[in-house]
Amino acid sequence: MNRSYPNTRLRRTRAHGWSRAMHRETVMTSADLIWPLFVTDGSDAEEPVESLPGVSRWSVDNIAKRAKEAVSLGIPCIALFPNTPSDLRSDDGGEALNPDNLMCRAIRAVRDACGTDIGILTDVALDPYTSHGQDGLLDDAGYVVNDDTVAVLVDQAVNQAEAGADIIAPSDMMDGRVRAIRMALEMAGHHNVQIMAYAAKYASAFYGPFRDAVGSSGLLKGDKTTYQMDPANADEAMAEIALDIAEGADSVMVKPGLAYLDIIWRARQRFDVPVFAYQVSGEYALIEAGAQLGIGDRDALLMEKLLAFKRAGCSGVLTYHAPAAARILNG
Ligand code: PBG
Repeated sequence: MNRSYPNTRLRRTRAHGWSRAMHRETVMTSADLIWPLFVTDGSDAEEPVESLPGVSRWSVDNIAKRAKEAVSLGIPCIALFPNTPSDLRSDDGGEALNPDNLMCRAIRAVRDACGTDIGILTDVALDPYTSHGQDGLLDDAGYVVNDDTVAVLVDQAVNQAEAGADIIAPSDMMDGRVRAIRMALEMAGHHNVQIMAYAAKYASAFYGPFRDAVGSSGLLKGDKTTYQMDPANADEAMAEIALDIAEGADSVMVKPGLAYLDIIWRARQRFDVPVFAYQVSGEYALIEAGAQLGIGDRDALLMEKLLAFKRAGCSGVLTYHAPAAARILNG
């Protein structure tokens, strides 16, 4: 029999709440969330980030409290980003290798406070540590050099793993860094440290508030188009993802999120590793600004956008809305 009216009335299953619940295809829970947190120097400090309303930088002691909050909300993982004091930023980003830098201190504080109740994801890239705001080392012409940068990223990753990071997330977009980091982690005995590769990371206009939060926006000259991807490209994203998997990534990230749902969907169809989305700072800020303008209910706006990632096939979403979403989901 043809699937046609009136044999088929798709509104039948929508008529009552119980039925809508029973037929819901996509379910989101707080376990789908990764909460990014900004770390700043000092103690008992909270510095609101102006361009990210509702988001603050926290001192190391307060980061541990946020991590406990994450555990109580059912959020399985936090992602740490340091706002390195400006006198510790340099051309070569050497502070990234300091075992007592803000990032490593925050990792240890979270581990002390939460044990293994929470996953700690750490970003690997040099931009929070360089005086020029680029993710790698520059040659005389100001070009970000690949192989010398990878050598530093490897040491940065091992430094984070030694401090206790569970997931290393290279966000630098250098070629070959996943293989180099994987080999170094194995050699150092960190067999169970995961790599979540920012495999398809675009040169995006949506990163502005993040650069404010880590203090690199005033420093950055030029853009990142010689290493981050062209927003016009999708086949190239599949090539990036294939390489990162071959090099040893346990999972991959697509970034930004909502403007790149097609990339998530294609990656999901094509590869058998978990795909995560990074809903970036500009996306968060737009939702908050829209709610402020009365465009819609904030909670409804943010949940609808997060659900889109799950529907597109994501295993989880890294989002500044993680605590808000967890509260909504936990009722
Ligand atoms: C660092 C990094 C960036 C973001 C995450 N890691 C900024 C950039 O590439 O310039 C952006 C995240 C966001 O906007 O929320 N390489």
